[in-house]
Amino acid sequence: MPLSSTLWQPFALGRVELPHRLALAPMTRNRANPDGTPGEFAAEYYGQRASLGLLISEGTQPSEDGQGYFNTPGIYTPAHVEGWRKIAEAVHAGDGHLFIQLMHAGRMSHPDNTPHHRQPVAPSAISAEQDTFTPTGPQKTPVPRELSSDDIQTVIAEFRHAAASAIAAGADGVEIHGANGYLLHQFLSPNANHRHDVYGNSIENRSRFVVEVARAVAEEIGADRTGIRISPAFPLGGIDEGDTEAVRAQYRHLVGELAPLNLAYLHIHHLGDDELLRSLREIWPTAVLVVRYGRERDDIAADIDADLADIAPLGRFALANPDVVDRLRSDAPFNDVDPATLYGGGASGYTDYPAMATA
Ligand SMILES: Cc1cc2nc3c(=O)[nH]c(=O)nc-3n(C[C@H](O)[C@H](O)[C@H](O)COP(=O)(O)O)c2cc1C
Repeated sequence: MPLSSTLWQPFALGRVELPHRLALAPMTRNRANPDGTPGEFAAEYYGQRASLGLLISEGTQPSEDGQGYFNTPGIYTPAHVEGWRKIAEAVHAGDGHLFIQLMHAGRMSHPDNTPHHRQPVAPSAISAEQDTFTPTGPQKTPVPRELSSDDIQTVIAEFRHAAASAIAAGADGVEIHGANGYLLHQFLSPNANHRHDVYGNSIENRSRFVVEVARAVAEEIGADRTGIRISPAFPLGGIDEGDTEAVRAQYRHLVGELAPLNLAYLHIHHLGDDELLRSLREIWPTAVLVVRYGRERDDIAADIDADLADIAPLGRFALANPDVVDRLRSDAPFNDVDPATLYGGGASGYTDYPAMATA
C-alpha cells in the first residue's frame, strides 16, 4: 500500500468514526449566493468528496460583521441553515462527516463585501493594510473599528448561535477559525491587538478571546463537536507574532488554556517549527490535525508517521481530485489544480474535476 499504513487506520474523533487519517482542509471557494446561502453546486461538491471522511467546510461567517469576502456562505439565518442542510445530507449520503468552519474575518474585510456595508471590526483600530478582493476589484482593507468589551460579548454570542445553527443544519460539528490572520488570530497577535483591557497587552490576555469563544461554542454544541484551527507565526493578513520564542510562548499558553476543554481536535496550519508542534501535541488531550502548505504527495503521511499528528487534511489535492482517497490507495496520478477557478464561478473547476474512471 502506498504511503504509511497508519494513514489507513481508522480514528475516533469526538463523536465520529473516521475510516482513515485523511480529511478535507477548509477551502473558501466564493460560490455562495449573495444572501450567504450556499451556492447551487455546493452540495454536489462536498458530496463528491465524502470519502475523505472528515470534511471541514470553507470559512463560513457567523454574522454580517464576520464576512470578509464576497460570495462566502454564512450560518446565522434560517435560510443559511436550510442551505447547509443539503450539504450535510450529501456528505452523510457518502458516509462522510461535516464540520462547518466558523470564520470571522475581523479587519480582513471591506464594507463593499458585507451585507450591511459597515466598517469592519477588530481588537484594535489598526489596518491590516492588505489588498483584498471586492466586487469592483482589489481595494485596501480599511482601518477597522475597535470592539468594545460589550461588542466582544456580542461576537461570542454570535459564534454560539452560528454553532447551534450548524448543528441544526445537520453538521457533525464546527471548526473555530483561529488562524490565517482573521479575527481570532488578530486578538492573538501583538501587532494587531493593542488593547489595554483584559483582552490585550499580555500573552494571557491576548489568548482570552479565543478561549472564551471556544468555551462558549463547546458549551453550546458539545466539546466533542468542536474543533479549532490555529496557525502559529503565519503572517497572512499583516500578522506579526514576533520571534520564535514569542510565538512559542503565546501558543503554548493558548493551547494550555484550551486543552482542559477537551475539544474534538486541534488543527494546526504549520509553518515548520517542529519543536513547537511537538510541545503542542504533548499538551493536547485529543486529536491533532496538521497541514503544511504545499506538502508534496509523498509527504502526506510524514507527520502521522513521526507522531506529530493524527490526521493529515488535504487542501488542493482534494480540491482537484474528488476521489483523492482512492487515488492515494491505488497510487494513481492526481488531476492538476486549475488556479483560475479557485475563487468564484460556477461548476467549472468545482464539481467537474474528473474521478479516476473518467480521468
Ligand atoms: C482555494 C483555497 C481556499 C482556502 N480557504 C481557507 C479557508 O476558508 N479557511 C482556512 O482555514 N484555510 C483556507 N485555506 C488553506 C487550506 O485549508 C490549507 O491549509 C492550505 O491550502 C494548505 O494545504 P494544501 O497545500 O494541501 O493545499 C484555503 C486554501 C486554498 C487553496
